[in-house]
Amino acid sequence: MFRFDPYSPATDADPFPAYKSLRDEYPCFWSEEAGMWVLSRYDDILHALTNWKVYSSAKGNLVDEFPGRAGATLGSTDPPRHDRLRALIQSAMTKRALDHVLEPARGSIRTHLEEVKGRDSFDFVNDLGSRCTVDLLFYLFNMPKDNAEEVRDNAVLMVQTDPVTRQKTQAHLDAFHWMANYAENLVQERKKNPGEDLLSNFITAEINGEKLLDKEVQLTVTTLIMAGIESLSGFLGMFALNMADFPEARRQLVADPSKIPLAMEESLRFNTSAQRFKRTLQQDVELHGQTMKAGDAVMLCYGSANRDERMFPDADTYDITRNPKRHLGFGGGVHSCLGAMLARVAVQVIFEEFLTVIPEFTRMDRELSWVPSSNFRSPQSLMLART
Ligand code: HEM
Repeated sequence: MFRFDPYSPATDADPFPAYKSLRDEYPCFWSEEAGMWVLSRYDDILHALTNWKVYSSAKGNLVDEFPGRAGATLGSTDPPRHDRLRALIQSAMTKRALDHVLEPARGSIRTHLEEVKGRDSFDFVNDLGSRCTVDLLFYLFNMPKDNAEEVRDNAVLMVQTDPVTRQKTQAHLDAFHWMANYAENLVQERKKNPGEDLLSNFITAEINGEKLLDKEVQLTVTTLIMAGIESLSGFLGMFALNMADFPEARRQLVADPSKIPLAMEESLRFNTSAQRFKRTLQQDVELHGQTMKAGDAVMLCYGSANRDERMFPDADTYDITRNPKRHLGFGGGVHSCLGAMLARVAVQVIFEEFLTVIPEFTRMDRELSWVPSSNFRSPQSLMLART
């Protein structure tokens, strides 16, 4: 009997054969392990993303939601409440506003490359990707760097779920509470001393004279730190993995760095770090002969939609000339990733520098150990050897 277990280490290692079975044979599937329906075809997921009145985020968008988070953050509210929160942050995330992070991002990767360039091997995730992400987020939010490691470790821990019990452990919940507490202190401090940074703008902002609720501010800041650190660092690891596994593609980028943005889009399609998110049905839905009931949770597998042959011919082939404009690596609809532009700018700069200094490398471990998460998929470390 077919099963789909988003918690299994085997799914982390390679979810794509299971996604194919889901798309071809069980396009609307009840997963006992997840306790929710699973949608895997591109068209079905896009339909869900553009119908938030039916596929609601208000009960949370994380497959394993944190207590108290649903209904209070961007990702876990529906319009009009969602739009109000989103508008406040979006204005600070425009391309022009992000131009000033270019040089700090370049400075960060150059500094960390100095530390690894004399070595024969290094860990891309922990020596480069995650450090650059932390530098960038701390710069953007103007956060004090004295406990950067602790912030990063808690961001990574809070997105995890225990693969055996399929639940968050006390350590995962503690990490969430630690981050919420950290965000609360940050918010209080920034209220007293507002600056020009993204957080200050958000905290002091008003829409039609109405201020955000303290809980909204605190949990949205918590989510921004988590989403920023885990998603960006995770994707940098996935992109580096593709560069190791597809040396011909990498050599094209080394010869012509202007191809990096296209390769990045293909990696977001081919193996986005943000694999699965949740919605909750507001009414009964009939789909592919199944009846999903109002109140049921539905998992949207973006990672599967991006490999749907009905949408992307030769979907299992990594092809940096593909230009997959409509991939769902950043989700879609009203909840599409708010950090997409920042992520695109950061990845481009980081890989321009990285591939200039270290153009040739191979992967040292065939088997990787993956962050245990029902939403995200990224390696815990990625050892690369210079060749
Ligand atoms: C390559 C890196 C990234 C990937 C792959 C990614 C992916 C995603 C995806 C798939 C969603 C949709 C979630 C849903 O459907 O419920 C999302 C939402 C979001 N992302 Fe990202 N993300 C990345 C980087 C970032 C960064 C750097 C930030 C912030 C600094 C960020 C902030 C957010 C926020 C706030 C939302 C919620 C938007 C809303 O609900 O309106 N992301 N992201």
